Amino acid sequence: MTHHAPTVAASGGAPTDLLRRLSAIGQEHVLAFWAELGDSERRSLQHQIDSLDLDGLPRLIEQYVRNKPRADLGSDIQPALCYSADHARGTRPWDRARYADQGRALIAAGKVAAFTVAGGQGSRLGFEGPKGCYPGGAVTDKPLFQCLAEWILAARRRWAHGGPAIPWYIMTSPINHEPTVAFFRQHRFFGLNERDVMFFPQGVMPSLDMATGRVLLDQKHALALNPDGHGGSLRALFTSGAIDDMRRRGVEQISYTQIDNPLVRVIDPAFLGLHAFAPDSSGEMSSKMVTKAHAGEKVGVLCRVNGRTTVIEYSDMPEALNNATNPDGSLRFNAGSIAIHVISVAFVRRLNEGGRFNLPYHRAEKKVPFTDPATGRRVEPASNNAVKLETFVFDALPLAERSIVLETDRTDEFAPIKNASGPDSPETCRRLQTLRAARWLEAAGAGDRVPRTDAGEPDCTIEISPLTAMDAAELQAAGLPGPIARGARVAL
Ligand code: UTP
Repeated sequence: MTHHAPTVAASGGAPTDLLRRLSAIGQEHVLAFWAELGDSERRSLQHQIDSLDLDGLPRLIEQYVRNKPRADLGSDIQPALCYSADHARGTRPWDRARYADQGRALIAAGKVAAFTVAGGQGSRLGFEGPKGCYPGGAVTDKPLFQCLAEWILAARRRWAHGGPAIPWYIMTSPINHEPTVAFFRQHRFFGLNERDVMFFPQGVMPSLDMATGRVLLDQKHALALNPDGHGGSLRALFTSGAIDDMRRRGVEQISYTQIDNPLVRVIDPAFLGLHAFAPDSSGEMSSKMVTKAHAGEKVGVLCRVNGRTTVIEYSDMPEALNNATNPDGSLRFNAGSIAIHVISVAFVRRLNEGGRFNLPYHRAEKKVPFTDPATGRRVEPASNNAVKLETFVFDALPLAERSIVLETDRTDEFAPIKNASGPDSPETCRRLQTLRAARWLEAAGAGDRVPRTDAGEPDCTIEISPLTAMDAAELQAAGLPGPIARGARVAL
């Protein structure tokens, strides 16, 4: 057999209809190697192509690859109204105990599901495999999936009194679905009942060549596809049958979290109660926020835009608003979005059943390895060569009638693992777990058992499992540790 550089001419033999549809939108190069593919490779390539919205592609390329769309911010941008973490303080005190009771009642009645989005590629962390398999426990190195599973186990024990299960839905992507399910099997579902853990893959989008808008080929028989963003969860929840499953179980509210934050309160009664029962909430979609550390912190900001709760991305936030301060010097737009939401089953159904619902795409420039359709060679780009299109879950917030925001304390609940080193890394995550544990020990009257550096930082590493304690009061009830040695690693 002679080797030659395959060209589009090699697509000879491809189904005419397929070739015609692709030629019409300038994407026929994806069939460049058709002639040399085996039957099953052809079938899988055709299947991938069929799953794309080909007709919509030219408009997306025009809008997001050839141009960089400016966010449409709306005319009236105000800070979001937030319920403060300290319920007795702030401009509007609220009755935490009452809302927490109402939230616990929802859990005990089996009306609450946990939902974790775990379909991301985790490219910044650079970990092979699903991010949920990455070590999250500061001392035990238990995987992130287990950190969340333990919260769900504890929540059921504490609040559902062994009654109805708290089902856990996990969104994967076609790329990490199988290894995720296998990991759970291998770990016997971390003590959860297998029947109550559901996995479903999210949708994908083609990765597009940044210079030409052409769909990149991963291999000769495969397109380069990327997960369609955490916003894809709002459709995938519905199309996968997860929403039907929830309805069968009587679930009404979905507690949404990401896989990369081992400190997250996977289910939080007070937040649930506020979301479902506060007079200014329509009970559709609510958010938690942390106060921004400084104006330059790169987090989305929860605002009120034309009267609707909206997240404005850091990069879209007008400079003047970003730096605006209150009379006391604090940031006016201080509500950092941390990707913790409660979403109602009814809201997801309304979005999906009410005709076409499309969240806006966001453009990300990334390095995506590809197979060159002209030479058949694999290319590992040295710089960003591709545009990925993703939707973000928070873009659904303005679609809710009335959406509330609850402040939470950063150290209490926000320690994401995003990067291999530096900010939001395994190291900062361990530090934050220790800080929270030290704070709980202090609140429980055992602050003197934590060794400190001259700067007052804990001089040890501490991890507290939710199975031991979900807050400081529970830690006291669980029994306090003796004095901790300098540099010690303690798992409670
Ligand atoms: P990130 O925005 O941090 O993206 O996801 P990522 O894919 O994990 O990491 P990078 O950007 O490639 O480094 C936040 C959360 O949303 C989920 C992730 O799994 C994580 O829990 N996610 C993200 C999805 O489930 N699907 C997506 O398409 C994107």
